[in-house]
Amino acid sequence: MTANDTQRPLHIAFLNPQGNFDPADSYWTAHPDFGGQLVYVKEVALGLGRQGHRVDIVTRHIVDPDWLPFAATEDHYPDAPNVRILRVPCGPQGFVAKEALWPHLREWVANIAALYEREGAWPDVCTGHYADGGVAAAALQVSQAIPFTFTGHSLGAQKRDRLLETKPEGAAELEARYHFAERLEAERVAMHRAGAVITNSGQEQREQYAHPVYVGAVDPEDQAHFAVIPPGANLTIFDKGSRSPREDEIRAVVAARWERDIAPERQHLPAIIASMRLDPKKNHIGLVKAFLGSPELREQANLLLIIRGSDHPLRDWAGASADEQALLKAMNEAITAGDGWGSVTSFALAGQDAIAATFRWASASKGVFCLPALYEPFGLGVIEAMVAGLPVVATSFGGPQEISDGGRAVLLADPTNEPELAAQLLRLIGDAALWQEYADAGYQRVLDRYTWERTAASYASVAYALLRGERRGGDALPLPAWIA
Ligand code: F6P
Repeated sequence: MTANDTQRPLHIAFLNPQGNFDPADSYWTAHPDFGGQLVYVKEVALGLGRQGHRVDIVTRHIVDPDWLPFAATEDHYPDAPNVRILRVPCGPQGFVAKEALWPHLREWVANIAALYEREGAWPDVCTGHYADGGVAAAALQVSQAIPFTFTGHSLGAQKRDRLLETKPEGAAELEARYHFAERLEAERVAMHRAGAVITNSGQEQREQYAHPVYVGAVDPEDQAHFAVIPPGANLTIFDKGSRSPREDEIRAVVAARWERDIAPERQHLPAIIASMRLDPKKNHIGLVKAFLGSPELREQANLLLIIRGSDHPLRDWAGASADEQALLKAMNEAITAGDGWGSVTSFALAGQDAIAATFRWASASKGVFCLPALYEPFGLGVIEAMVAGLPVVATSFGGPQEISDGGRAVLLADPTNEPELAAQLLRLIGDAALWQEYADAGYQRVLDRYTWERTAASYASVAYALLRGERRGGDALPLPAWIA
């Protein structure tokens, strides 16, 4: 490609071996490999497709009676003629968790190359997602000279540190389960060789990539090597003016749970609403304690925790994992100790449209969204709540700081300081004018900065820069032996 044809539509491949994609988003959130990364890849791919580029989401071919939607080698989203889902054989036919994919990636890359060879047209650019997609993109760059970007989503160094904090004696056990050796090697090569490392925020770039494990692979201060491209909210689903075809049905379910758990004389009060994976770092317990510890807040609001997996998770956690059970039990005990039954409700919701409808329901009664995580790399839930019309109180650690626009669009709080968290919530709950100000500012902030159209356009402009040779990766780190 020359400088003159860098405005022609691109052909971009998104390499994402883990999880899978299908028009119905069949397993989203039902398995750890079907989390936010798939939403991200799908939305950016669809955005680029709408902008006239040709996009392939390249993932694994899975022939497995327990994972039926992934049996065809090619698939499409409705109304997205420019986007293909290509499923390429990679190791065994059945589903394989991402931690066990490493030995099969060489075959996956060879099969991708064979596919494009057969089609007689190679993508202009690849984007590699997570360590597995990143190292596969690096392998295609080495063999086929296709430039690529790397989006880490979640980095192994921080995950290993977190796990070692809880199980310091278990390094060998962790290695056997998570295969950090391969993951870290894959990440180092992907971040080094990528023409651009894409992060959600400047903070993610400076903090996560500064980990000692990545020294020599990437310089977190090298702006020319990084591109900060925030993700977006899906306005069709989350906008305050949208409606799900199931909106009334969802509201009826939410109202029934509300009536089940909230004392009759309190049911008119607004909801402080949180929607997060059950994980100690999300700090559900800090929010419960902040709420119960503030008599003023308890007088003026109820607490609603959307928790996947059970219809009544604070009372019934039989189906949860051991780690999740510990968290639910701790919350149950905190509510009992704080005499909080009747002011707290919790239940599961299936589907993004159900979450969106619940945000709109909470906004109508002047509720507030809260993300109390101890650290949050970006905070997709924050922007989804903002665009649904809910003002937000979020952790001051991580991505929400950038989203907050210096505190003008989101109120920030130290999540480990329960009185501070409660005080920020109370500011919005207790002051109708301030509530409106933050609801309006938050909504506008999302429209201005956090839409998938914008994310997709930024990916395209980085891709053009790669093709013009303005960005290029390093070549000092060789491919891992297991994929070369
Ligand atoms: O889906 C979000 C995500 O961060 C993915 O990138 C990844 O599949 C998972 O969650 C986290 O992976 P890990 O726990 O291995 O870092």
